[in-house]
Amino acid sequence: MKKVLAVNGSPRADGNTAHMLAAVLEVCGAAGFDTEIYQAGGRAVRGCVSCGGCQRHKGRCAIDDWMNELYPKTASADAIVIGTPTYFADLTPEVKAIIDRIGYVSRQDGMRLSRKVGAGVCAVRRAGSIHALDSINHFFLINDMVVPGSYYWNMSLARVPGDYERDGEGAETMRRLGENIVWLLEKL
Ligand SMILES: Cc1cc2nc3c(=O)[nH]c(=O)nc-3n(C[C@H](O)[C@H](O)[C@H](O)COP(=O)(O)O)c2cc1C
Repeated sequence: MKKVLAVNGSPRADGNTAHMLAAVLEVCGAAGFDTEIYQAGGRAVRGCVSCGGCQRHKGRCAIDDWMNELYPKTASADAIVIGTPTYFADLTPEVKAIIDRIGYVSRQDGMRLSRKVGAGVCAVRRAGSIHALDSINHFFLINDMVVPGSYYWNMSLARVPGDYERDGEGAETMRRLGENIVWLLEKL
């Protein structure tokens, strides 16, 4: 069974980003795909130290923390959805660490993310989400992945937990994104 993995980059495990990811996964689950949400936000962050360890030990990061738990999940998933809240018009540090470290580990491991489906989603109070989404999409697009769209950019105008549920257009965007992930996975 094909699998859709969602990674929540917000330290709020039950915040807007988490609910946006859950909405995407709900559509994928209803279509018969296996789904999982991985809570990355709030974990201690170590950035890539550029040590080259992943060139010598394929499939592992030399910094042995939660990234070595997350990497095999990304490597075996068919679709990866990364969610971040907007922090100063950018990603959370947890998501940036994922991009750099899993990006390097996967590239040294035979481009393991090749031709998987990738989508970013972003919660934002007011401004900066496009930049954060661009950063996630850059990660997918340099790793040979296939990026589906939706009726709008994959964002929701949301500040406090619960705001996402009040953003009808954001919810519609997430639902359609889920449908497009399903559509793509069924074709691949
Ligand atoms: C450190 C920090 C920086 C933020 N920077 C921005 C920002 O640049 N633009 C914006 O519109 N909202 C900003 N916000 C608001 C969050 O993006 C917003 O509350 C979002 O819904 C949080 O998502 P979550 O519930 O998944 O954590 C910031 C919040 C925090 C804590």
